[in-house]
Amino acid sequence: MIIDIATWILNASQVLRNVSSSPHLDAELIMSLATQKSREKLLVDGNKRLSTMQLARANYYLHLRKHLIPIAYITHHKKFYGLNFYVNKHVLIPRPETENLVQMALDHAKTLKQPPVILDLGCGSGCIGLSLKHALADTNASFILADISSQALKIAKKNAKRFKLNDVKFVKSNLLKKIDLSEIDILCANLPYVDRAWDFITANTKHEPKLALFARKNGLELIEKTLKQISTRPHKKHLAVFLEADPLQMEDIEKMVLKLFRGAKIKVSGFTMQILL
Ligand SMILES: C[S@@+](CC[C@H](N)C(=O)[O-])C[C@H]1O[C@@H](n2cnc3c(N)ncnc32)[C@H](O)[C@@H]1O
Repeated sequence: MIIDIATWILNASQVLRNVSSSPHLDAELIMSLATQKSREKLLVDGNKRLSTMQLARANYYLHLRKHLIPIAYITHHKKFYGLNFYVNKHVLIPRPETENLVQMALDHAKTLKQPPVILDLGCGSGCIGLSLKHALADTNASFILADISSQALKIAKKNAKRFKLNDVKFVKSNLLKKIDLSEIDILCANLPYVDRAWDFITANTKHEPKLALFARKNGLELIEKTLKQISTRPHKKHLAVFLEADPLQMEDIEKMVLKLFRGAKIKVSGFTMQILL
């Protein structure tokens, strides 16, 4: 079949209109991947005919998208805090709300007199830790990225290499089990906080790793365990903790924190809780 780029995009966006909230953008991204042309170039080349190979590739990616595979898992890219992260089905697709956690941790890091040791617990693609490392490139801050999943750590390492961020320590650890907490100044953690019973788990999250999404006890099990681990281990007096959770969970987390750490200073902004011990 002879078809040009613009026509394929138009048809594909029609096909995706019941699947995606951004059907035209998805169609463009798929075409961009299939032809290896930028989206700007696709506009210029709109009336160019697709080769048999390009058409086959585009139709295959469209088939995946029709079956609700997230666009980031098809293109293997997701922009986060200005960096283009490699992602696959073994890691959560970085969310825009997590950029706030990065910003708050970064603002705090900049107030410190000594270069901090920063831990990203549950690092997944590495988006939190590596964004911080990138933003603090001209400092001597050091970084530990930890996850329970070896497959996630592999992707985080790949991203570190991709952005030429050297000297990052990667640790396979169940929460803080393999971490020497006493050396950490800033602990960032976007751990799973979705309870399986919540009824708003949608097609969007269906293809993401269960290990990255779900936690028991109304989604709070891993956050609570982490806080308890911190409270029972030697740690720096002024350890700063940045947690991501659903805004509806913040009140319960605040209660946990105040029970475990008297006098802790808590600040909540969107999906981020900052805890200064
Ligand atoms: C919500 S994802 C966050 C990934 C990434 N930090 C981000 O913000 O996109 C949670 C991550 O925590 C990891 N994880 C789940 N249980 C864990 C545990 N017990 N210890 C350490 N990491 C865990 C998952 O493998 C997953 O990569």
